[in-house]
Amino acid sequence: MIKPRVFITRIIAQEALDKIAQDTDMGVWPEELPPPYEVLLEKARDAEGLVTLLSDRVDAALMDAAPKLKVVSNMAVGYDNITIAEATKRHIVVGNTPGVLTETTADFAFTLLMAAARHVVEAANYTSKGRWKTWGPKILLGQDIHNATLGIIGLGRIGAEVAKRGRGFNMKVLYYDEIRRSEEEERRLGVEYIPDLAKLLSSADFISVHVPLLPQTHHLIGAAEFAMMKPTAVFINTSRGPVVDQKALYEALKSGQIFTAGLDVTEVEPIPPDDPLLTLDNVIIAPHIASASFTTRKNMALMAAENLLAGLRGQTPPNCVNPEALTG
Ligand code: DGY
Repeated sequence: MIKPRVFITRIIAQEALDKIAQDTDMGVWPEELPPPYEVLLEKARDAEGLVTLLSDRVDAALMDAAPKLKVVSNMAVGYDNITIAEATKRHIVVGNTPGVLTETTADFAFTLLMAAARHVVEAANYTSKGRWKTWGPKILLGQDIHNATLGIIGLGRIGAEVAKRGRGFNMKVLYYDEIRRSEEEERRLGVEYIPDLAKLLSSADFISVHVPLLPQTHHLIGAAEFAMMKPTAVFINTSRGPVVDQKALYEALKSGQIFTAGLDVTEVEPIPPDDPLLTLDNVIIAPHIASASFTTRKNMALMAAENLLAGLRGQTPPNCVNPEALTG
């Protein structure tokens, strides 16, 4: 029996590769950097399935070049790298990996929050560069986390887990979202709904963004929004870089309009080495690693494998973002 040809754009967890290898004729891109677009296009030509990462662009031109393609399994919860409408039109199902990375990502958002509030990276550099001369009453003062107000933008799975972590630090947790949670859920999570983003921005001591990247969330936070924040505000983004106008963030941090920021994502990834944000002391920028724990990356890979194999069988993947691709 001829096995379906699939291409995987990076070496993912061995357990997942083993599973995929059993049922497919599998090609794996062996390098650390993603395959260039032209290479992916070539590899897709005879593929029935692709396993992609958020750094792989899967657009209409690529799908046109891949007439046998049935399934694109993205090893990420976000799928803004894939043109979903074009996939649906061509009856290509797209899978993602929700749930398995929720808590790991929330842990990291809170890690950035705490690190940015208390100058953890700056303090470590201060020590390693030999600047620690004495205990000083005014050295590296930060913001208290306990009892402060946390404003969450987007109370989906990850936002809700960040809320729980905030409650653990006795924070008052406010949230803004297009969709309000039920009163019972709000009670369970201990959160208060703020229907007006401006009000949340001006009331919160800590602001953490957890929305997907969509046309309507592009630059959701820009100069006007930073101007509404407290000068003591700590701003965290672990969602997608383009949700924030990075030039406006730079100005807000440089001018002291806000206190500090912690980012796991940037408008262009990796951030170019000459980006002015990199010259500031009051921002921590991580290389998009919020879901990067051993266990979670393995679980994401296994989920991506299951989605792929279901799609190859002509079934709706267990985690599918466009089930209408098979029914429409
Ligand atoms: C995602 O899954 O969308 C994250 O950004 C990477 O884990």
